[in-house]
Amino acid sequence: MGIERVVDTAVHEDDPVEQAEEVTLRPTTFVDYIGQERLKKNLRVAIDAVKKRDDGTALDHVLLYGPPGLGKTTMANVIAHEMGANLRVTSGPAIERAGDLASILTNLQEKDVLFIDEIHRLRRTVEEILYSAMEDYKLDIVIGKGPAARSVRLDLPKFTVIGATTRTGSLAGPLRDRFGLIHRLEYYQLTEVEQIISRTASILGSSIDTEATKLLATRSRLTPRIANRLIKRVRDYADVNGTGYIDVEQTKAALRLMEIDHLGLDPADRNMLELMMENYGDRPVGLNTIAALTGDEAATIEDYYEPYMLQMGLIERTPRGRAVTNKAKKHLAAVKQEFN
Ligand SMILES: Nc1ncnc2c1ncn2[C@@H]1O[C@H](COP(=O)(O)OP(=O)(O)OP(=O)(O)O)[C@@H](O)[C@H]1O
Ligand SMILES: [Mg+2]
Repeated sequence: MGIERVVDTAVHEDDPVEQAEEVTLRPTTFVDYIGQERLKKNLRVAIDAVKKRDDGTALDHVLLYGPPGLGKTTMANVIAHEMGANLRVTSGPAIERAGDLASILTNLQEKDVLFIDEIHRLRRTVEEILYSAMEDYKLDIVIGKGPAARSVRLDLPKFTVIGATTRTGSLAGPLRDRFGLIHRLEYYQLTEVEQIISRTASILGSSIDTEATKLLATRSRLTPRIANRLIKRVRDYADVNGTGYIDVEQTKAALRLMEIDHLGLDPADRNMLELMMENYGDRPVGLNTIAALTGDEAATIEDYYEPYMLQMGLIERTPRGRAVTNKAKKHLAAVKQEFN
């Protein structure tokens, strides 16, 4: 992505401070993990059951899916912590060869949790090894080449895979079927976002008043990662332009400077909607065409721009593409006034 956007739901990977802060701000227990009540309830039951049985069985494999920044990685950490288990972290693209996965698996210990981020990006050959590993804790490997090659079956410790993906659609059926617990992370309620903002402010040692917290929550796209990022930007603004205390005036001024509107959209989001409207009116447009219009990759549109806009009813998905809604048109007109 070109310019760095504040409301972008991706982690800014070239920003070491942000990466470190994501870790500091990350809740480690169910109590600290705000919201996602249904998910937490289900996981608690599953975890308590495993602990109570105490017969050596591991927690069922867990698949977490949903838009970026809603807390999938965080939840994987919480699960491992609540299980009292070690967490091993890897990702679909990081496992290049079947041998890489084999070495990860053979190094696991009983009850370890293996977190596979972006699991939809696993290579097919790697994925096939994972099937039997997940299903019967066996690893099938081929030793040698040509006529001398033979296949051996190794026992693996009982472990738990937690897979995370922004797209379940791209996950192969057989892989999906091997997860006992499949959960979608939902956008947060406003009151939950407010709690997250208060929690973050207190961890960062900043003071923010209730009105400012409420205002920030409405601009956070119902997403914890963005809430955390906004509060940091507003804190910077309050440090430079005020006393450091975050009140509603400082917050409004900072949001205005970032050109974040009352739905939490930034100039890049509005630009996408405007381009769609100018070129296609309310007719549906294909993903690749939108990508060509904005100069982004189709995957960026699909993972980062679109989910929140769909959630807010600003665009709709039709069989022939995405279409701008009336709500979006009204919104853009209102924003023109707001920023002029
Ligand atoms: N329920 C929550 N309560 C408090 N903070 C949260 C919660 N969920 C997420 N966060 C905060 O938001 C940040 C982003 O969450 P996380 O990295 O888990 O998202 P993700 O779903 O894994 O995103 P991605 O799809 O980009 O990997 C975390 O650093 C954490 O501080
Ligand atoms: Mg993640």
